Order: sequence, then C-alpha cells, then structure tokens
Amino acid sequence: MRLEDNLAKILIPSDRLQARIYELGAQISKDYGDARPLLVCVLKGGVMFLSDLSRALSIPHELDFMAISSYGGKRVETSGVVRIIMDLNASIERRHVLIVEDIIDTGHTLSYMVDTFKARNPASLKICALLNKSERREKEILLDYVGFDIPNEFVVGYGLDFDELYRNLPYIGVLKPEMYS
Ligand code: PRP
Repeated sequence: MRLEDNLAKILIPSDRLQARIYELGAQISKDYGDARPLLVCVLKGGVMFLSDLSRALSIPHELDFMAISSYGGKRVETSGVVRIIMDLNASIERRHVLIVEDIIDTGHTLSYMVDTFKARNPASLKICALLNKSERREKEILLDYVGFDIPNEFVVGYGLDFDELYRNLPYIGVLKPEMYS
C-alpha cells in the first residue's frame, strides 16, 4: 500500500516546512538567549516537529515529553475531555517552558496543558505550534509561535496521523475524504 495514494494533495511540501522551522528556530533562539528553555513535546504528533525545531535552535535547551489523551473520536470530532497519560520527567518550577505542538485544532488539549503547567509555577510559559487550524477553535489561546495557518482540512504527515499511519511522511498532506467518511 502506498500512503501517498490516499492523499488529495500536498498542502505543505517538505522544503517549505523545513524553511519555516529554521525561521522559528532563529526567532526562538533570539527570544530566549541564555535562558536555557525546556521544550515540551506533546506526543505523539509533536515528535517530528520537536526533533527538527530542536536542531534549528542555536541556544542551549532541554527536552521533555508528555502524552495526553482525549476521550471520543479525535481529529474528526473532539470530545473536549483531556487527561495526562504520561507526565513530564522533571519539575518545571522556575523553568522557561515552551510547549511544542504539531497542531492546534479545537484548543482543548492545549488549554488543558496550559492550566496544568501554570499550576506548577514555571518562570514562563509559551506555545509553539507548527499548524494552526483557527477555524475549528473552541477555546481561545494565545499562540506565541506559529508555523502555518491552515484551512479546515484533514491533514496528515510530519507527525500527524490517521488511524496511527501517515506520521512518517516528510510533508503535510490532505487526506482524501473517502478515507475517513
Ligand atoms: C492532536 C495534536 C494535538 C491535539 C490538538 O493530538 O497533536 O495534541 O490533537 O487538537 P485539539 O486542539 O482539538 O485539542 P491527538 O490527540 O490526535 O494525538 P497524537 O498526537 O498522539 O496523534
């Protein structure tokens, strides 16, 4: 099976992704300087973005990982109920935390994370999202760094899945509607 055959189109090709991530890396490096930020990746979707963004940073920084799950069928219809299934390894108290997400859709996942993290007293808390699907937003959240604003289409690739596949594609593609309807 060729996953590519199930795509209607490529939305963001690999070279545009990488060029934008390089720009984000330069901006983040400038903003944080010697603050030694902790980049928190939200598994699983954020893992490709985190690994490229980390390599685009020219400043000392640390990485940590968190897994979150939402009840109900995600991506097509969100339930709005979120819980931690794997927490961070270390305390974020007095740390400069940057949440790294692949996509902000309804905003429920991020809103839950922001509330949870704020209660842990970080020195600062910012958000970096590769993709922003603002049309679908149900919870308003300020995003500090955004890679691309995208339309309300079913996107896969570069960490984003459908039924756990497509994450390995090096670009962002749009799934053919007949694949999920
Ligand atoms: C995706 C994505 C975000 C979340 C955004 O994760 O990685 O974490 O959905 O959606 P929201 O703004 O509507 O909350 P998903 O739950 O699909 O898990 P995955 O990253 O493991 O694929």
